[in-house]
Amino acid sequence: MCGIIGFTGNINAKEVLLQGLKALEYRGYDSAGISFFTGTGIKTIKAVGKVAGLVEKTVMSDDDTKCGIGHTRWATHGGVSEVNCHPHHFGKVTLIHNGIIENYKELQEELALEGKEPVSQTDSEIAAMVIDSYYKSDPVSAIKKAVKKLRGAYAFCIMFTDHPGSIYAIRNGSPLVATTTGAGSIIASDMVALIKYSKDYFVLPEHHIAHLTASSINITDLDHNEIEPDMLHVNWDMAAARKGGYEYFMLKEIHEQPEALRNTISPRIKDGMPDFSADGIDDSLFKDINRIIIAACGTAMHAGLIGKNMIEKLSRVPVSVDIASEFRYQDPVIDENTLVITISQSGETADTLAALRLAKERGAKTLSIVNVKGSSIARESDYVLYTHAGPEIAVASTKAYTVQLAAMYLVAFRFAYIKGKITEDKTKEFIKELEKTPGFVEKMLSCDKAIEPISNKLLKTESLFFIGRGLDYALSCEGSIKLKEISYIHSEAYAAGELKHGTISLITDNVPVIALATQEDVFAKMISNIREVRSRGARVIMITGADAQVDAALCDHLITLPPVSDVFAPFGAAIVLQYIAYYTAVARGLNVDQPRNLAKSVTVE
Ligand code: F6R
Repeated sequence: MCGIIGFTGNINAKEVLLQGLKALEYRGYDSAGISFFTGTGIKTIKAVGKVAGLVEKTVMSDDDTKCGIGHTRWATHGGVSEVNCHPHHFGKVTLIHNGIIENYKELQEELALEGKEPVSQTDSEIAAMVIDSYYKSDPVSAIKKAVKKLRGAYAFCIMFTDHPGSIYAIRNGSPLVATTTGAGSIIASDMVALIKYSKDYFVLPEHHIAHLTASSINITDLDHNEIEPDMLHVNWDMAAARKGGYEYFMLKEIHEQPEALRNTISPRIKDGMPDFSADGIDDSLFKDINRIIIAACGTAMHAGLIGKNMIEKLSRVPVSVDIASEFRYQDPVIDENTLVITISQSGETADTLAALRLAKERGAKTLSIVNVKGSSIARESDYVLYTHAGPEIAVASTKAYTVQLAAMYLVAFRFAYIKGKITEDKTKEFIKELEKTPGFVEKMLSCDKAIEPISNKLLKTESLFFIGRGLDYALSCEGSIKLKEISYIHSEAYAAGELKHGTISLITDNVPVIALATQEDVFAKMISNIREVRSRGARVIMITGADAQVDAALCDHLITLPPVSDVFAPFGAAIVLQYIAYYTAVARGLNVDQPRNLAKSVTVE
C-alpha cells in the first residue's frame, strides 16, 4: 500500500528511483512523484496516474542528482491529484509516507494555531509539518520529537534541504528494507526495488532511525544507541521480478506454481514424513493444542478455509477461520492450548498483524505462513513457515495461494500424525501425493486452451455464481474473489446447498454458474444442486474429477481435472479458477496486474 524508495550514492539517482517505483507500482498506482537534490536545492516532479506518466515528465528534466526519494500512491486521505501526490514539502522537510496518521486532524488544528496551513488534503503533509516544526538543524532530534506526536502507521523517508546527500527513515508498522552497495545506499518498501543491487538486505527495526549516506546506513534507536541490523538474504533474482515475456505478471505467476510448490514442499519432507525441524518447529508445538484459529484476509483467508477442512477431517481438532479484521474486535476465546495460525503473502497486512498481536497478548501459541522473508508477521510470530513462492507482483494472488495450501496440508498431516489420528503409513501416503502436486499443477497449466474460449463467453456477463460443497465451497470463495477483483464482474460464492435458501431467486436465463464438483462424497448432492440451477436457465460451467460421470445435458462446458485423489483436487481446480479470472479480464481489455482501487499488501486497517 504505497511504494516508497530512497537512494543516495554515486550513480544517477533519478534512474534508481524511477526503476524502483516501476517495480513497486503494484503497491499503489494512483499517482507518483520524486524529489531529489540538485545543485540549488530540492526539486520535485509529480504525475497523476501510473509511474509511466512520471517517467515521461522526468525525462524532460536534465538535472543531475545522486540523492532522492520517490513514491507511488494508493490514496487514503485526499483524492487522487497532483497536490496530494507525494513527496510533500514543508519548510526544510521533504517527505514520503506509507501508512495512515490517525490523529492528523488534531495535529492540523494545533498547527493552524501557529498559522501553518497545509496545501494538500493528506495526513502525510501534516507529518511533514510536524517534523519541520521541531527542526532546528538536527534531523534525528526533530524526527524523534515528531514521532512522539504521531499516532498510526508510518514508514517515512525524509530529506532536509540543508542536509544534501542524506536521507532519514523511520517506521512504525509499515515496512522498510534497506541495503548498502558499491553504488550507494537504498531503502524501499520491499525487496523488489532492491534486488537489482543486492540480494542481502535488512529490515529497518521499528522505531529506529536510519541515516542513509552514499557510503553507509547508520541506525540508532530513539535513545541514540547505534545498532547493527540483522542481515537477510533472498534466493531469487531480478528475473523473478520481471515479466519474462509474459503479457502480465499474473500469467507468469500462474505458470510459476509448479516450481513454487516444489520449493515449498520438498525442504519439509524427511524420510517420507512432513518435517519442520529446519523451520525450528518441533512437535512440542502441536502436542497440547486442542483448538486452532486461522486468521487472515482475502485469498490468504480462503487458503485457511481449505486448511480448516483438512485439519479437522484428519485430526478431529476444532478449527475456526476468521477474517483478520473481524477477529481483532471479537474478543476471541483463546488460551495457551490454542494455536493461532496467521496466513499472509506479504507478511505486512495490517489486520492480520493486529490479529497476531492480539493472539499473542491472550497467550496463544502462534504460527504464521508467510511468503516475504523478514516481514512483520514472520518476525512477530512464535513460529514461521515460509512459503517459497518468490516475489508475487500481480495484485491478484495466485502462486501465493497454492503454496499456502501446500503449507496448510503439511501442517494438517504432521498435526494429525502427532495427535495419533493418522498412522505413519497413512501420513507417508499423503506426503507421496503432496509431492506429486507440482507435476499435477504442471499438467493443469495446459487447460488454458479450454478456458480461454469459455472466458470469452463471460465477457458481457454482469453477475455470476460459484457453487461447491466442502473443499469445493472454499475454492468457490477463491474463484469468486479472483474474478471480481480483476474482471470487475460481480460474482458470489455459495455453498451449493445454501443457494435455495434465498439466492436462487437470482438465477434466471443464461446467468453463468461455475459449479465445482470434484469431491466424490458430495458429488450426487452437487449434481442435484446443478440440476436446480440448470432448470432455472443457468449457463453451467462444471469442474469435475477425472472419473466423474456427467450427463451431457447438465452443463454447457465441462472441465475435467487429470486423475488425482479428491483431497488434492483443490490444487488443480485453483488453476482453472485463476485462468477463468485471468482470461475474462483480458477479454474485457483490463489491466490484469493493476486492477482499479486495489493495491498489493494492505498495510492500513
Ligand atoms: C486477492 C488478494 C488479497 C490478499 C489479501 C491478503 O487476490 O491478493 O485478497 O490475499 O489482501 O494479503 P496478504 O496475503 O499479503 O496478507
